[in-house]
Amino acid sequence: MAALIFDKIDSLLEEIKNAHVSDAKELEQWRIRFLGTKNIIKPLFAEIRNIPGDQRKEFGQRLNLLKQTAESQYQRLQSSLEGGQDSSIRQDLDLTLPPGSLQLGSRHPVTLVMEHMIDIFSRIGFAVAEDREIEDDWHNFTAMNTPEHHPARDMQDTFYLKGSKEYLLRTHTSSVQARVMTTQKPPIRIIAPGRVFRNETISARSHCQFHQVEGLYIDIGVSFADMKQTLQFFAREMYGSNTKIRLRPSYFPFTEPSAEMDVWLGTETATAKKLTKGTGWLEVLGCGMVDPNVLSNCGIDPDVYSGFAFGIGIERSAMQKYDISDIRLLFENDVRFLNQFTSVL
Ligand code: DAH
Repeated sequence: MAALIFDKIDSLLEEIKNAHVSDAKELEQWRIRFLGTKNIIKPLFAEIRNIPGDQRKEFGQRLNLLKQTAESQYQRLQSSLEGGQDSSIRQDLDLTLPPGSLQLGSRHPVTLVMEHMIDIFSRIGFAVAEDREIEDDWHNFTAMNTPEHHPARDMQDTFYLKGSKEYLLRTHTSSVQARVMTTQKPPIRIIAPGRVFRNETISARSHCQFHQVEGLYIDIGVSFADMKQTLQFFAREMYGSNTKIRLRPSYFPFTEPSAEMDVWLGTETATAKKLTKGTGWLEVLGCGMVDPNVLSNCGIDPDVYSGFAFGIGIERSAMQKYDISDIRLLFENDVRFLNQFTSVL
């Protein structure tokens, strides 16, 4: 009786060692037979009561070996199926070969342009300040001299959080000005890059989300001339040393006086023509001297301090730089589009 069971163990061991499967289905059948809940090995353990005492130890050892062999054979069969070949007998692996090169990713064109802008302003002492995209009404509007019912609120169609009149997706990075002014003391010299949102119809030229870089400089005796010099420096670093700029009078609730800055792109390329609506001038940013109301809203004495602020749109610069004629490409994340950019700045 005992000899019969020992024979059975031996033949199973042999069968396991010689196992071969050619597909996942066969592998699964094999697993069920040797390792499944009703596997063929399990009942053999109960046979121990029919084994004479002096052979029980050996019996136990042999059964355990059988079980372990089945487990390791299963691993081997599995990896040989996955690898298409038996990894334990792989002959073609040459460990002395140099490794294959890594495939570098690429950076999003908006990131490339944004980082370029950050780099330019860092060189003249601006620190980066980042803040939240979900803002409250006070930081986005009220502190920025745009109280309720102020007509300027209509300029920016706002996404409010569902059921809320208080929380919104920021419509501009100017909200970071209020965040910084209420928590830091002048001198303040920051730029705030980030994403902003407006409830606009999506087209080739405008989108409901885009990016801005906000700038804020507050100290004793800051003048309009300081602003102009700073922005001219920026334009030359960004668009080339011969770049022409112009400042047009404008209106923003948070600055007085306010202006918009254009850079001259010309009308030679199709993209320049389209982006400048045929005028040759690309509208790059809004700017102005910080309105005294904004300073006092944020706890800074307007009789002591003055400052300038600006807000730069990023997408249009990215489109100009990379010759992209439809803004939607910047938000669709099609890898065929994104692959064309570089990973380095
Ligand atoms: N927040 C304005 C916008 O979203 C841009 C802007 C204009 C920002 C003038 C400023 C500024 O800081 O001084 O259109």
